Amino acid sequence: RKPVTINTLQSLYRKNEPITMITAHDFPSAHVADHAGMDMILVGDSLAMVALGMEDTSEVMMEEMILHCRSVARATKSAFTVGDLPMGTYEIAPEQGLESAIRMVKEGRIKSVKLEGGIEMAPTIAKITRAGIPVLAHIGLTPQRQNSLGGFRVQGKSTAGALKLIEDALAVQEAGAFAVVLEAVPAEVAGLVTRNLAIPTIGIGAGNGCSGQVLVQVDMTGNFPPGRILPKFVKQYGDVWSESMRAIQAYKADVKSRAYPAVEHTYPMPKDELAEFEK
Ligand code: KIV
Ligand code: NA
Repeated sequence: RKPVTINTLQSLYRKNEPITMITAHDFPSAHVADHAGMDMILVGDSLAMVALGMEDTSEVMMEEMILHCRSVARATKSAFTVGDLPMGTYEIAPEQGLESAIRMVKEGRIKSVKLEGGIEMAPTIAKITRAGIPVLAHIGLTPQRQNSLGGFRVQGKSTAGALKLIEDALAVQEAGAFAVVLEAVPAEVAGLVTRNLAIPTIGIGAGNGCSGQVLVQVDMTGNFPPGRILPKFVKQYGDVWSESMRAIQAYKADVKSRAYPAVEHTYPMPKDELAEFEK
């Protein structure tokens, strides 16, 4: 498969073919996503919880994001890669955002960055885009702002909220974002936003009217870290945790019963050497 570029994504959008996106946080999770033919791979800051066991995304540092981006980039041969700018690395000023985006590309080896926020982030999106780094915007439920949103709540449920969402979407488009993630918004509102934009919308908990979809990989494969609560919008396509559990328990039982290692897992000594050795 040819590498997916910004042009490939635009052509999918023009053909009205849904864009597929999934998160990855390391070499193996990126490898499988890339081989499955995902159009885009996101190194989401959700890795704070799903890969590092942190409470929320506010804890993850730039250096940690870069480390994970590098491992994802090494495994990704065709998908278009996006790295989340972690909280605190882009909100202060457009210059800070650009500096952070450059680090993510140069050190993290990813192709584009994602940042949370609407109209207030437009100058930052414009600054990064003009420097030649594609920006994926993210509006609706923005988890880095969970404390001011009052938790993980559906956004744009009221008419005023829906109008704000449209205003934000138009602002990030105007600023040069190549696409926008809509998280946890009513399907009707996401559909309306999508129809009013000239760039793709990538939905997560935003219904079927978006230009594409994204899910957190461990959620949809059922490879759950402890305490993970699944939002309503997740469809679980696999049961990886149970399969790993089954395998590890079988290994444990085999070691305890000495069924493992069997002869075929053992390096034999050559017969003549063995005879000499046993003398
Ligand atoms: O961090 C993340 O995984 C995300 C996606 C769920 C959009 O931002
Ligand atoms: Na994120």
